[in-house]
Amino acid sequence: MNLEHLKPEINAGIAALGSLRDLIEYRNSLVGKKGTLTEMLKNVASLSPEEKKTFGKSLNELRTDVENQLTIKEKEIRENELKTAENRFIDMTVPAQWQSRTQHPIKIVQSDIIDIVTRMGFSLWRAPTISTEFQNFDALNIPSWHPARDMQDTFWLTDGRVLSTQTSCLQNHLIKTEPKPLRAMVLGSVYRNEKIDATHDIMFEQVEWIVVDKNINIGHLKWTITTILTELFGYTPKFRMRPGYFPFVEPGIEVDLWWERDGKGRWLEFMGSGLIHPNVLRQADVDPEEYSGFAFGFGLTRLAMIRYGINDIRLFHENKIEFLEQFAVG
Ligand code: DAH
Repeated sequence: MNLEHLKPEINAGIAALGSLRDLIEYRNSLVGKKGTLTEMLKNVASLSPEEKKTFGKSLNELRTDVENQLTIKEKEIRENELKTAENRFIDMTVPAQWQSRTQHPIKIVQSDIIDIVTRMGFSLWRAPTISTEFQNFDALNIPSWHPARDMQDTFWLTDGRVLSTQTSCLQNHLIKTEPKPLRAMVLGSVYRNEKIDATHDIMFEQVEWIVVDKNINIGHLKWTITTILTELFGYTPKFRMRPGYFPFVEPGIEVDLWWERDGKGRWLEFMGSGLIHPNVLRQADVDPEEYSGFAFGFGLTRLAMIRYGINDIRLFHENKIEFLEQFAVG
């Protein structure tokens, strides 16, 4: 077998290469997995010892030569492409076309949730910024002597009202005035008298679901949570329900989300939920013997942090362009 006739053909082929894409293709056709020279090399094994020696040797030489030539050619092509790019004409007089294609991350998760629950037939509400003490606490089975008041540090106004500490503050109004069966979702900014750090802010966003109907049980609650989480994440995330204490539900249930990052997983406390406490229904003039319900709620801020891997809550209110620019939409 003679390789001499191959050399001029290959040399001409290499000389004609004009782009990186062509070069990669040509390199593959010669020395790639199924390349001409690679195939020839595989056949060497079946030759006589004598042929193996001479043919094997010149084939290896040819291969090395081809590789070298291709490396030189690649450098040449890259340098040419760089020069062309440098010489490209840029018209500096064209006015900038600046258009914001980003949205605040809270706004994005908010729109997603609204989209999901309106399809599920929930009515939409916004929690008031200011609540009476009754709406925010007493109506939710948290009288003034109750230690649970301390669970939420509160901003008190001088007239005895409060900056709403939870979207649950709308429960009493909705249960009292809306027709049954009730299916409502409440969005709202809530306020806590906290020391601000990476995980605490004095204002954050919450969302709350309230259902009041006949014969409501934990199965309904679990189904609704599963459906909403699945829609929200695009798959059913792993979550667990365990007993938790909230004065306005009985039983009270905490929902934890399984969270994995860089191969490590852990449970994150994610939402509070439960069957609406009979006292809460009574406070809203609804007979607990006739009606029952469930409620659950979580921090939209928390959801946005989990979804986007945001590790400092302060970023949401600092209005830094570098932060906001990362949330492209559309
Ligand atoms: N309002 C509670 C909070 O801010 C969260 C919550 C717990 C809402 C249990 C609920 C619930 O609807 O059933 O911590």
